[in-house]
Amino acid sequence: MSDNPYQDGRGNKDASITNRAGMGQIEYRPEGEARPAGPGPFLIGEAMTGGYGTGANILNDCTISVEKGEIAVIVGPNGAGKSTAMKAIFGMLNLRGGSVRIDGEDITALSPQARVPKGMAFVPQTSNIFTSMTVEENLEMGAFLRRDDISTTMEQVYGLFPILRDKRQQAAGELSGGQRQQVAVGRALMTQPKVLMLDEPTAGVSPIVMDELFDRIIEVARAGITILMVEQNARQALEIADKGYVLVQGANAFTGTGAELLADPEVRRTFLGG
Ligand SMILES: Nc1ncnc2c1ncn2[C@@H]1O[C@H](COP(=O)(O)OP(=O)(O)OP(=O)(O)O)[C@@H](O)[C@H]1O
Ligand SMILES: [Mg+2]
Repeated sequence: MSDNPYQDGRGNKDASITNRAGMGQIEYRPEGEARPAGPGPFLIGEAMTGGYGTGANILNDCTISVEKGEIAVIVGPNGAGKSTAMKAIFGMLNLRGGSVRIDGEDITALSPQARVPKGMAFVPQTSNIFTSMTVEENLEMGAFLRRDDISTTMEQVYGLFPILRDKRQQAAGELSGGQRQQVAVGRALMTQPKVLMLDEPTAGVSPIVMDELFDRIIEVARAGITILMVEQNARQALEIADKGYVLVQGANAFTGTGAELLADPEVRRTFLGG
């Protein structure tokens, strides 16, 4: 009798070139469930440690949190791990240590798609819209998990960003940088999130458009949606931040209210250009 479970003689019979005991190299992320967690900040990534694949740790005991309805901002030099921290909170990174909790639930074991119904929406730094689809189709895509009427939310998004209504039948790829960012934010809002996570929403836009986008983000926060964002325009972002984090090499370097960080001589000298 052959010990070949397939009994059909297929495949390579030379055991010397196979690894019978091996488990392969593909990372396996066992998906778990949400668990009740105690009281605390509305959203927190606590003591997050981890990196990409089997590579070195990018995040080192990094903690980011935001209270309900507030705006938290992450700043820091290029390569500090700001985007990685956002990805970790959204479940796109295998954490080797730490946990992520939202609204009293431990969601560390959840996949990104399972975090959306928990109220999280994430606008990544790049590739955050479907360029060949129209503006309106992009917004509809944002709502694809919803089974209820999305027209009210779409009206709210058009109310927030009137230019998108004018351009709703235009391919999103034909829009200006600032308008594209509005599409990306609008698409995220279509999920009716409790917390909106934005990675550099003002990247590549003019100072005037940046101010406008910040005003719209404040409006979203006033509507009760918690905001966690990464910003390259550190000074302006900290001015609107309830809480600010300076990350350096994947670790918390400075934490405080936006005003505290803006007033801190060391933060000013090192990160805000004096
Ligand atoms: N997909 C990836 N695979 C492997 N390493 C990555 C990946 N993405 C980022 N890194 C590495 O992780 C580190 C932190 O990158 P990250 O993008 O989080 O920084 P950042 O603070 O967002 O920088 P920036 O201000 O340029 O956006 C860098 O050393 C980067 O090379
Ligand atoms: Mg980044």
